[in-house]
Amino acid sequence: MNFRTIIEPFRIKSVEAIKFTRREDREAALRQAGHNVFLLRAEDVLIDLLTDSGTGAMSAAQWGALMQGDESYAGSRSFYRFDAVVRDLTGFKHIIPTHQGRAAERILFHTILHPGQIVPNNNHFDTTRANIEVEGAEALDLVIPEGRVPSLVHPFKGNVDLRALERLLAEDADRVPLVMVTVTNNSGGGQPVSLENLRAVRAICNRYGKPLFLDACRFAENAYFIKLREPGQESRTPKAIAQEMFSLVDGCTMSAKKDGLSNIGGFLAMNDDGWAAEARNLLILTEGFPTYGGLAGYDLEAVAQGLIEVVEESYLRYRIRSTGYLGDKLSAAGVPIIQPSGGHAIYIDARALLPHIPPLQYPGLALVNALYVEAGIRSVEIGTLMFGRHPDGTETPAAMDLVRLAIPRRVYTQSHIDYVAEAVIAVAAMKDGLRGYRIVSAPPALRHFTARFETA
Ligand code: F0G
Repeated sequence: MNFRTIIEPFRIKSVEAIKFTRREDREAALRQAGHNVFLLRAEDVLIDLLTDSGTGAMSAAQWGALMQGDESYAGSRSFYRFDAVVRDLTGFKHIIPTHQGRAAERILFHTILHPGQIVPNNNHFDTTRANIEVEGAEALDLVIPEGRVPSLVHPFKGNVDLRALERLLAEDADRVPLVMVTVTNNSGGGQPVSLENLRAVRAICNRYGKPLFLDACRFAENAYFIKLREPGQESRTPKAIAQEMFSLVDGCTMSAKKDGLSNIGGFLAMNDDGWAAEARNLLILTEGFPTYGGLAGYDLEAVAQGLIEVVEESYLRYRIRSTGYLGDKLSAAGVPIIQPSGGHAIYIDARALLPHIPPLQYPGLALVNALYVEAGIRSVEIGTLMFGRHPDGTETPAAMDLVRLAIPRRVYTQSHIDYVAEAVIAVAAMKDGLRGYRIVSAPPALRHFTARFETA
């Protein structure tokens, strides 16, 4: 028998209560938080879709592995287990643990970047962009044009625009120290990159003698999309596809808080001996000795086990389908979302839903805040608030104004997701009553985390 229902490939051994609040409690909490959901107490959130980062449920095998942690300062057994798993998956020569993804980014970019240089990517995530800009370099987004049109369906909307990359290198190769590709493309809607595109980027990099790195946070979800959508890949295992993705590049930054299925952790990995030596020196300065990199031995154990579980087909089938399930419900109700559904999140097109709120009054924020007040759901703006301010202090609309509903891994059941769909559809029906916002105070960089707002 071939049953159609795709079930969660786990049963629940331990539960955590969630708190139900009243609408007026949530209004007061949001007011106190300066209308910024990052400043709420998580306890006051019913369903937390702020991020899929570090918010997943670990398996019994991971919790068991914690007890195997070797907390030796140098040469810990847990490091060698972690190293072996990452090496088997990626094939890289140097594996450098870090406490999370952005630490890997900071170390990589501080090691190799100089002011005035350019780092192309499909789309840089906010921390990646900030870590490039802080070195005085430019973070350039070169996703294919289809990747910028929310309603357009394309199997690999995260692909790099090959012609634009070629043009950049033909004109300005001296200013480009490396090329990056983010899998899946978070800022572009959690969209995958095809093997064909990655191979073509590799060929261009070879022609100009440029190293190619992956931002590999969601490499397993990307590999599974390749299996589902790329001709000729359907009978391969997700792990074999992931291994090929890594074989096409010279290194990666990784946040194990995503496809490491862990609550903390990350790594920087590469083949170049010179860069790795410099990166390790920097690591010792701020993260720790190269066999722990800011992590406890037990964290390294959890990440190692997580990286084994994340490429299991039953997990990925459930993961990708359960995100798509939410996307299908919202689209069927006419809520504009990035098509097709992403791997880790659904992205609502707030600019399309709320055309009466100009981008510089943050339509995404208006929707995020309404979802919290009406339903206790926390989401995140990915748009003009996150990306609209430039290093010179000017502000322009971002390419898109999105609201991301990120799904933590193995945490919520189908009925939680049914509730989310019902709530989003109800809030979308109230769209004409939603108002934009004005900034009251904001820091100069990564402002969305701590800015405070008032209604415009
Ligand atoms: N790269 C991408 C594509 C990411 O999505 C993130 C984090 C990072 C790098 C940085 O990793 O958080 O471990 O330092 N994204 C989270 C998110 C925060 O909500 O999308 P980190």
